[in-house]
Amino acid sequence: MKKILPLMLFSACVYAGDPSSERQETLRNLLKHDCGACHGLTLKGGLGPALLPENLKGKTDEFLIATILDGRKGTAMPPWRKFMNADDALWLIGTLRKPS
Ligand code: HEC
Repeated sequence: MKKILPLMLFSACVYAGDPSSERQETLRNLLKHDCGACHGLTLKGGLGPALLPENLKGKTDEFLIATILDGRKGTAMPPWRKFMNADDALWLIGTLRKPS
């Protein structure tokens, strides 16, 4: 038990940033309905570009978090800062990067 405790503490820290499973469900719905309105229901693009894993490959998490939280001036991409924090945005990006 003494040996296991530090390991448990370590993994608790690693996962501390993940939204709760309830929050993940909300974010998943947001992605489908709100983001999907522009990026396409299947995220293959529409008014906004496709958000499939291959489209995001060369882009850093920091760049994409900034895009989601602050939007892109002069484009239709709106800021989402009022609706989510950086952890939420990072989780969404992780979801988008995963091949479905
Ligand atoms: C009103 C339309 C609209 C909505 C709603 C919208 N986006 Fe966008 N989004 C855009 C447009 C247009 C761009 C492209 C901006 C540009 O030309 O650089 C974009 C760009 C992006 C990018 C950068 C893609 C890249 O390849 O650099 C990401 C990531 C993104 N959106 C995520 C989201 C997420 C997540 C949501 C929902 C929380 C969302 N968007 C909702 C229109 C929208």
